[in-house]
Amino acid sequence: MDYIIKIENVEKSFGNEHIVKGINLDIKPGEFLTVLGPSGCGKTTTLRLIAGFEDPDAGEIWIDGKSVSRIPPYKRDVNTVFQNYALFPHMTINENIAYGLKMKKVSKSERLARVIEALRLVQLESFGDRKPRQLSGGQQQRVAVARALINNPKVLLLDEPLGALDLKLRKQMQIELKHLQQKLEITFIYVTHDQEEALTISDRIAVMNKGVIEQVASPKEIYESPSTKFVADFIGDTNLFEIQISPTNETNVVNLFGTKVGGRIREPKSLTKQNYLSVRPERVKLLAHGEEAPYFLSGTVEEVIYVGSFIRTVVKLQQGQRIVAMMPSKGDHLCLPGDRVRVTWKEEDGIVIGQ
Ligand SMILES: Nc1ncnc2c1ncn2[C@@H]1O[C@H](COP(=O)(O)OP(=O)(O)OP(=O)(O)O)[C@@H](O)[C@H]1O
Ligand SMILES: [Mg+2]
Repeated sequence: MDYIIKIENVEKSFGNEHIVKGINLDIKPGEFLTVLGPSGCGKTTTLRLIAGFEDPDAGEIWIDGKSVSRIPPYKRDVNTVFQNYALFPHMTINENIAYGLKMKKVSKSERLARVIEALRLVQLESFGDRKPRQLSGGQQQRVAVARALINNPKVLLLDEPLGALDLKLRKQMQIELKHLQQKLEITFIYVTHDQEEALTISDRIAVMNKGVIEQVASPKEIYESPSTKFVADFIGDTNLFEIQISPTNETNVVNLFGTKVGGRIREPKSLTKQNYLSVRPERVKLLAHGEEAPYFLSGTVEEVIYVGSFIRTVVKLQQGQRIVAMMPSKGDHLCLPGDRVRVTWKEEDGIVIGQ
């Protein structure tokens, strides 16, 4: 089995609103795949389509080789941790976790054994008799995960499960979830609108925008080689410039503001009428006095900010645009506002992409 989940040309509208616009996605067994995109782009709807809480208007979803179009949610081998993971407040943690098994008429002794195992997995062994309000946010979140894991699903769908937690706890839980997923070898489909979270925990990221998946790739590839302007802009910080592509005999050289600079065309077929050059700030280099480089742009330093291990320098280019450089603060030359400087980047770090 190559894929545990296959989504083929799936469409979904609510009334006149076209929400999911023909998405295709193949997810491998044991993979941690994150669906990343801004609020309202259709992430939850996509998860609900996989789980069976919504029916696609067109296209097909396969789970473990079987088309699930006629299979109701409770018969699909997936479990969901919802965006609002509300636990039942009047039940104990044990009862909350066992609830699904009770509904399935699993015997009491088996329920107990499985609850203990699930609590152990999320490191809450001694909390079973408490009520949810006696737990911290992070602990409640772990209970929600335990509740979803108890059915031994092949696939776990997690919809912004850490959204309610503060930053520190969130980072800790990201690592815990990742370890749990690796240990259990369950396929995770994880939804978030937090790009840093997606980069940290995923094997692959599907970047979604307005109902369309714009790119599916590893965190490294998404960051270093975004396929569209949206992906470049949404993931991390970047310098984006509109460019005119004119045929040139040189590879990895493009024309920016009438000056030749390094730039590789990511995929000729992805170019559109309007194209962009994306350069990550940490790939921009300020040239020292007298230092040589095949291509550079000239400008004036406008702002220098010390951000711990990095220095963020904003340079206003001769042509009027601004470019941001992030350089390790141990760098040997420090600039001051007003300094005339030259900026450059390696050819492979300038990425030419379409709309
Ligand atoms: N049952 C529904 N009926 C009508 N419109 C809906 C329904 N469910 C979702 N929508 C609309 O579909 C769009 C996408 O919603 P969805 O919940 O999938 O977004 P999301 O990417 O999960 O956003 P968020 O990050 O805010 O959770 C929104 O405009 C939403 O209002
Ligand atoms: Mg959502």
